[in-house]
Amino acid sequence: LTSRRYPGLQRGHFASLTDADAANIERLVSGRVLTDLSELEGYNMDWMKTLRGSSKLVVRPKSTEEVAAVLRYCNDRRLAVVPQGGNTGLVGGSIPVFDEIIISTQLMNNIINMDDVSGILVCQAGCVLGKLDDYVKEYGFTMPLDLGAKGSCHIGGNLATNAGGLRLLRYGSLHGNVLGLEVVLPNGEILDCLSTLRKDNTGYDLKQLFVGSEGTLGIITAASILCPQQPNAVNVALLGVPTFKGVMNIFKKAKVHLGEILSAFELMDRESMEMVTENLKLSNPITSSRFYALIETSGSNKDHDEEKISSLLETLLNSGQITDGTLATDESKIQAVWSLRERLAEGLLCDGYCYKYDVSLPLSVWYDVVEEMRKRLEGAATHVVAYGHVGDGKNHDSFQETMDLIEPYFYDLVAKYKGCVSAEHGLGFRKKDFIYHSKSTSAVSLMKMVKNLIDPKGIMNPYKLLPTK
Ligand code: FAD
Ligand code: MLT
Ligand code: ZN
Repeated sequence: LTSRRYPGLQRGHFASLTDADAANIERLVSGRVLTDLSELEGYNMDWMKTLRGSSKLVVRPKSTEEVAAVLRYCNDRRLAVVPQGGNTGLVGGSIPVFDEIIISTQLMNNIINMDDVSGILVCQAGCVLGKLDDYVKEYGFTMPLDLGAKGSCHIGGNLATNAGGLRLLRYGSLHGNVLGLEVVLPNGEILDCLSTLRKDNTGYDLKQLFVGSEGTLGIITAASILCPQQPNAVNVALLGVPTFKGVMNIFKKAKVHLGEILSAFELMDRESMEMVTENLKLSNPITSSRFYALIETSGSNKDHDEEKISSLLETLLNSGQITDGTLATDESKIQAVWSLRERLAEGLLCDGYCYKYDVSLPLSVWYDVVEEMRKRLEGAATHVVAYGHVGDGKNHDSFQETMDLIEPYFYDLVAKYKGCVSAEHGLGFRKKDFIYHSKSTSAVSLMKMVKNLIDPKGIMNPYKLLPTK
């Protein structure tokens, strides 16, 4: 079968779901399956609302054993599956391409353990990130990652995509913060790597293989995460900066001046700010500027931290490096400033069809690439906007209008500048065929060997991550 939606793409040699399969699977999870087409709608459609699958079955297991039983059945029958967490992924990895069975972690939302001395949290994969953050806060800790999607995304989905987000500058990537994983392999075998130790040098670190594997190797069912101490004092500054070079200088100064309390450094250009002020009716507390820098500090001493960031602001203002700035020190104002950045993806969705490109680039060429694309898309795109996590060298550019003008041109440009075609959202369905722009032939060939070894029938999230062309 060739896809009508995606010309040239062939359905893999998988079995088609029969009524008997649906009934057998239903028995394995005590009736927690969905088959009603209206109920399936949300599971078949991605967050961007630009991709749609045709699954006829959603399975909602509650335990690792149930996931194992379902996968074993699917593997034996050669039925393809797609794992789904909060379905907030931005590269089409979490929805079926054809009729794959959706295995949702929605009901796997139990905390297994919280160690109030070490801050090590063990929980099921379907726990919502924001809820976990609220939970660990009660013990004086915080989750090591934070995303605009925290109200819906699952920790399993975060791990499967190796999500970066707004705190990566401070706490590093999930590769460093995950201590253990439990994963069900495609044949139903349970891989127990759910360690809670910070140190373990006994052979290959298998759990890391599943971090960023985007559901192509197995289903993560539980995780152990090292949570940092909850900072006592948080401050956020929003600054108006006339040039991109100016933002870079401020980044350098912020690192020197704020040192260990710097916890986020985000950039938005004027066009991005307009997406949230005009489409979501949020208000910009400072005068309009070509660029905006959002700086967050997180520390243990309120007076000390406030003094540090205020004096940075004063220096920047007095030397003309910023045109305006505001400092938020109380919770509601901090939240209001963060919303301008966190809700940007939502603001863009309200603006019509959105092409989103999450790439990483050397900071020296970051905005040149945006300007080049803006020129190329003049008259074709309504808006070309750029924003991102400068703190870790990532940017996101969103274009509207014709994709042909963008791909492969944009990816070629990223490769030319030695950037990466996916900074943090993964490859999923959208970017799988551009993997060679950022990975060598030998690396992709080893990835294919790993995939074939773990999933010889290819049932786990087919048509994702690895190239189909
Ligand atoms: P899903 O979307 O359901 O799935 C994502 C992928 O993981 C799919 O390939 C799926 O098959 C697989 N998967 C899901 N659960 C499992 C599991 N238990 N086992 C194996 N595979 C699984 N990403 C960033 O990196 N940084 C950001 O700052 C950021 N901000 C975002 C802001 C918004 C508003 C939105 C909508 C998305 C944002 N994202 C960001 C995208 C991001 O990838 C996710 O939001 C998140 O990590 C996905 O989690 P999820 O539970 O929704 O996973
Ligand atoms: C973000 O940084 O806001 C997210 O990764 C989502 C996006 O790129 O729009
Ligand atoms: Zn991001």
